[in-house]
Amino acid sequence: MGVQPDRRLFLKYLGAGLTGAAAGGGLGPLAEARGTMPFASGAPGDGALSFTPIRPSDADRLVLPPEFDSRPVALWGDALPSGNGRFGYNADYTAFLPLSPDGNEGLLWVNHEYVSILDPEDGECGVYTQTFPLVMGRAATLDDQLHDIGASVLHLRRSNDRWAIVNSPQTRRYDVNSPMRPSGPALQHVRDLAGTLGNCSGGVTPWGTVLTCEENYQKFVPDDVSIAGRGSTGGRFGRRSEDYGWVVECDPADPSFVPVKHTMLGRFRHENVALHASPGAPVIAYMGDDRTNGHVYRFISRDRYDGPAASHRGSLLASGRLFAAVFNADGTGEWRELAERTKLAPNPESPMPAVPTGATMLGQVYTDLGAIVTDAFRAANLIGATPAGRPEDLEVHPLDRSVFIAFTDRATAPGSPFTNVYGEIVRLVEDGDGTGTRFTWMRWKAGGPQAGAMGGDVFAAPDNLAFDRAGNMWVITDIRSDRLNGDERYTAFRNNGLFFIPTAGAQAGRAFQFASGPCESELTGPSWTPDESTLFLSVQHPGSAHGIRTDAAAAPRGSNWPEQRLGAPPRPGVVAINRR
Ligand code: FEO
Ligand code: CA
Ligand code: CA
Ligand code: CA
Repeated sequence: MGVQPDRRLFLKYLGAGLTGAAAGGGLGPLAEARGTMPFASGAPGDGALSFTPIRPSDADRLVLPPEFDSRPVALWGDALPSGNGRFGYNADYTAFLPLSPDGNEGLLWVNHEYVSILDPEDGECGVYTQTFPLVMGRAATLDDQLHDIGASVLHLRRSNDRWAIVNSPQTRRYDVNSPMRPSGPALQHVRDLAGTLGNCSGGVTPWGTVLTCEENYQKFVPDDVSIAGRGSTGGRFGRRSEDYGWVVECDPADPSFVPVKHTMLGRFRHENVALHASPGAPVIAYMGDDRTNGHVYRFISRDRYDGPAASHRGSLLASGRLFAAVFNADGTGEWRELAERTKLAPNPESPMPAVPTGATMLGQVYTDLGAIVTDAFRAANLIGATPAGRPEDLEVHPLDRSVFIAFTDRATAPGSPFTNVYGEIVRLVEDGDGTGTRFTWMRWKAGGPQAGAMGGDVFAAPDNLAFDRAGNMWVITDIRSDRLNGDERYTAFRNNGLFFIPTAGAQAGRAFQFASGPCESELTGPSWTPDESTLFLSVQHPGSAHGIRTDAAAAPRGSNWPEQRLGAPPRPGVVAINRR
């Protein structure tokens, strides 16, 4: 069967409440799925469901369709074998890299984004500080926070659908003290860097490394840098501004490889990286700056990708060009380069450095390219990139290479086309081979409670995206903890969830809920084994708004996941989901 025409999907699923939306004509149909049996579909590529969709839930459990069950792989505080530290807090991005042809052995990369300390602005009650003594037997120190952020590598082996952590040198941690080094035009004055933090989502390269993305670094170090790209030392962790906010390349299989912070990919609140690589062509990376009015970026490597066997580790992403996106209201778009010769076209009412009298180009505001990429958010405002609605994950469609972007909220800058408070998923199609400066875009799926207008289940605040092998879309929601089950605009959605959206067949474009997270959590980091028999999924920040639940009548306030015993400390972690 062919796929549904995109234009029809656009009209059907635009959703109420969006104004001024313009679908670009000329976006081709999504490529037809083919070949393999997807995780949740009845047959290859037909988009038909082979699971019973669940209803929105406020239960303090990981609710799944009756055809599936889950088991924890690792929980915060679990000691890793051989004294290699402990599994960190707030698990986010996961990626499974097989070590055996049957996929029964592999390395699971897991990001640990942050620790949930008291932060009233973000609705955080400090559940990390509250639960640490119960899990670890003592009070938390600053060193504990530095160790509970970063990433874990778990060497896993499967037997009878159960995954166990192997005692091997590859099971290990990266944290805020691990040695790192920089590449690219910024940080040339730095020889050694300490650690990584704010590790939200990420990506896998075709040459087998993992890209981990430093997102909300401003919670740990001072944010601002000068027109010379220099910041200051301080913040909660007493570290330098400009050392954080980058994409970091790590090698899960090689503990001796020192991770590289690729500064040419820009310094901003990196959600993830979506790569497109064709042998013989430059590699293209799509990225989002997850802040209100943040921008969408594209990096094009200077050198060509020579295939998966080539030695590109740490080098191919070191040199290239960085662009920011302009989304025109008519569905056309343009990439503008963050380069010294790019013309100034300042956005109204947006943060940016002062423009010297007579300056017409970006290089007349900043001292050099390194400073421009270090101050990417303000530099992008200077050249007229579109302030957007908090770009979260971007994914390249595995079959037709169009780019999907999750905007989790609305923009507030004047004139931005991204005004839906429930967020939306946008599809972007490059002109030509994807290395030019023009694209077209359309709203593919709007968030919101307007069930009748949208068809399928409804969701709000899309965050992580993933495509299965058949090209179907998986969407995870991240409604803020202080809005979940409280703010009446969001109560219909109940807890955060995971949704399946077929992109082909009779159900194309409809959302079906596959999972509902425990109370005050966000599900994150979906990834599959190569045969898609296991889905790894993180449960992040359960109980973030109200901490440990001690009173059954308080539901849905607070959490006891995964123990489900009143008074038990909620513990973020990673689960493996299998068909029963
Ligand atoms: Fe860490 Fe943008 O989510
Ligand atoms: Ca996210
Ligand atoms: Ca993703
Ligand atoms: Ca989010």
